[in-house]
Amino acid sequence: MNDVVLTGDRPTGLLHLGHYFGSLANRVELQDKYPMYVVIADYQVITDRDVPGQIQRNITGLLLDYLAVGIDPDKVTIFQHSAVPELNQLLLPFLSLVSVAELSRNPTVKDEIAHSSQGAVNGLMFTYPVHQAADILFCKGTLVPVGKDQLPHVEVTRLVARRFNERYGAVFPLPEAMMGERPLLKGLDGGKMSKSRGNAIALSATEDETAALIRRARTDADRLITFDETHRPEVANLLTIAGLCLGRPPQDIAAEIGHRGAAALKSLVTEAVNEFLRPIRARRREHSEADARRILAEGNERARERAITTLQEVRAAMGF
Ligand code: TRP
Repeated sequence: MNDVVLTGDRPTGLLHLGHYFGSLANRVELQDKYPMYVVIADYQVITDRDVPGQIQRNITGLLLDYLAVGIDPDKVTIFQHSAVPELNQLLLPFLSLVSVAELSRNPTVKDEIAHSSQGAVNGLMFTYPVHQAADILFCKGTLVPVGKDQLPHVEVTRLVARRFNERYGAVFPLPEAMMGERPLLKGLDGGKMSKSRGNAIALSATEDETAALIRRARTDADRLITFDETHRPEVANLLTIAGLCLGRPPQDIAAEIGHRGAAALKSLVTEAVNEFLRPIRARRREHSEADARRILAEGNERARERAITTLQEVRAAMGF
């Protein structure tokens, strides 16, 4: 079978180092091996907030981040799902294939509801995993590189594909999640790395902003630096970040710092991160916002052609 890769992001802010090592580096490798689509999931932004906010700015920023890390728009179709009506129309038959009980059991949705600041859960929050199935199935995606939190959505996608095929004939492949042994970086305060928590190093941050963030990073009082993820998670996280940027085992870096303490660790991390991000930041400046908008328009066009074909097949299979 010919594999097709689909993955995506919500356009809620700038991408950071955790995204780079968690998914972007992998995409850059995959783009040479498979046909690939990356969805900018703009409608998903309004699952847990009332308004999309600075949506155009976030989308342009996301595209510039993609280009900066080396995602090649000649190889990868980058598109926003709001620009592909035929993709969204797949949501209607797909929703008929899952029960309300199945929708309410989704652990990732439950978790997002628990962390939402909204007073009431909206219908899109409840149904977005099925929308995500449309993101994946419109291009007959077979490989879905995602983090662990997205596994329930890939399960929903498989369920939708299987039931569609059973009821209406074989149209969709059953996609698989692709989970490498990718490191999960924590934020500089020890929590989940997230732009909104102010604990993440944005790919596009300046060297000074990066230095300031790392200077404020949480560590501990023990001057002997060791790599101990269980007992010293914050120090271990800094060592992991430096190790990834330098391509060295974090234990080596700990040994090199030895008794010189957290200040020496932080200056080493700052140096490593800034050195690593220098070419990425330079490439980001080579592209204008107009470039980003043009690339997105082209990607939207290509995605739409694909979606039109799939929707026609779906309607024919259903006898509409
Ligand atoms: N929900 C994903 C996230 O928050 C983004 C996303 C939307 C996605 N559609 C997708 C990921 C399809 C993989 C496949 O990160």
